[in-house]
Amino acid sequence: MKRVLVVYATGSGCTADIAGEVARTLQAPRVAVDLWPAPADPDPAPYDAVVAGSGVRRGRWHQSLETWVEECAGVLRQRPIAFFSVCLTMATHPERAAEVRAYTQALVARTGVAPLGVGTFAGWNEPKRFGLLERGHLKRLEAPVGDFRDLDAVHTWSRQIAPKLGVAAPTWLTPPTGPAETTVAARIRPASRASS
Ligand SMILES: Cc1cc2nc3c(=O)[nH]c(=O)nc-3n(C[C@H](O)[C@H](O)[C@H](O)COP(=O)(O)O)c2cc1C
Repeated sequence: MKRVLVVYATGSGCTADIAGEVARTLQAPRVAVDLWPAPADPDPAPYDAVVAGSGVRRGRWHQSLETWVEECAGVLRQRPIAFFSVCLTMATHPERAAEVRAYTQALVARTGVAPLGVGTFAGWNEPKRFGLLERGHLKRLEAPVGDFRDLDAVHTWSRQIAPKLGVAAPTWLTPPTGPAETTVAARIRPASRASS
């Protein structure tokens, strides 16, 4: 059994949903996926592969996930890892994916944790999901309002990254509908680095 950790950071809940879709898509026969928010400080050591994803604030990931990557860098450098970023640039200017991928460049340089791939996904601007200051920031930028998430793109990227992470199900084990359609939800486990 291969074990995969999907760890995420979110402010409004948008990236939590997307991380859940990544976890669900990676779930396959002989692949167990755990889904954790970064502030819970999950221990990456028992896992064969890791996916880390965050919503973006002013060109950076949420601090909780940057801190987690920094603190776990020793282990993460030894594991196949992929990143994903969720933001509005991918909704308004999808051609600027390279710029969005660069949001994690400084983190990679600081930690030496080198992702095998970086997914770039459109998020949302749902004013009721943001606080007053965040709403004001997006209003000043005249960001379009709406839910721009494209779950098909999330599923496609997850299927593409699985073999790079070494956690794709062997084809003879893959159900005809493919792992994305599996109904087995990612397990949410309550252990953390602090408690282990
Ligand atoms: C204060 C603030 C700053 C943001 N900065 C950026 C940014 O620099 N680039 C971008 O593309 N999106 C930016 N966004 C949009 C968010 O990344 C987007 O709404 C995302 O879906 C939020 O997901 P999360 O709440 O799960 O983190 C910003 C949003 C807020 C509220």
